[in-house]
Amino acid sequence: MQVVFKVQRYQPERDGQPYFQSFPLELPERATVLDGLHQIKDERDGSLSFRRSCRSAICGSCAMYINGAYHLACNTGVETLKAQEIVVSPLPHLRVIKDLIVDMQPFFEKFERALPYLMTTTPPPERERLQSPEQRRAFEEMINCIQCAACYSACPMVWTDPQYLGPAALTKVYRFVSDSRDEVGRQRLALVDNDHGVWRCHTIFNCHIACPKNINPTWSIQQLKRKTIARRLRFWERG
Ligand code: F3S
Ligand code: FES
Repeated sequence: MQVVFKVQRYQPERDGQPYFQSFPLELPERATVLDGLHQIKDERDGSLSFRRSCRSAICGSCAMYINGAYHLACNTGVETLKAQEIVVSPLPHLRVIKDLIVDMQPFFEKFERALPYLMTTTPPPERERLQSPEQRRAFEEMINCIQCAACYSACPMVWTDPQYLGPAALTKVYRFVSDSRDEVGRQRLALVDNDHGVWRCHTIFNCHIACPKNINPTWSIQQLKRKTIARRLRFWERG
């Protein structure tokens, strides 16, 4: 398969602005975009920089903007893009460190603010905290998040409000609010009931469109809005 990879290059301390560099490639059938980037790095230009680790769509390292859409490079087949030219850029609206590598620090800081771990207030039981299959299903979708930051990069509210928690962190809050074992729901809802939390979301849906795992943060955030209202009206009992 013959294609041309047009890759965004940028080394801030050296280049005035980002530019695209073209690489004609011969790739095997069923090659992924990540395979193409590896071929460039291994055979043409070892200085090309990008993140990757698992090559299995589970670590979230390789989210990029490919031919005008958000993708994981490792599970995007070049053939599926149905194009002779594959244009690869870093996640938009995030600071570029080098080539396809962006600064993930603000994203992870917000994740940390979302308290992304189970919290309890009662003494631990003798064995594990049990949960029925139905209770487990309540947060089934949200646990598939691989923290790739595609939703975060795609959300216009993140672009305009640097303090906004963003779709991934809010989805994580909803994941624990929905978990029957978690006992600090009121604290979690108070955390997001403000201008930089759920009320900053304008239901734009870009996050859902961008998610390579087909998670719907828009839905989670709307559920959180309902529960924050219930908490204010004292209808929220748990935690
Ligand atoms: Fe942003 Fe998604 Fe809300 S794109 S505004 S978090 S629906
Ligand atoms: Fe891990 Fe792509 S390399 S998600």
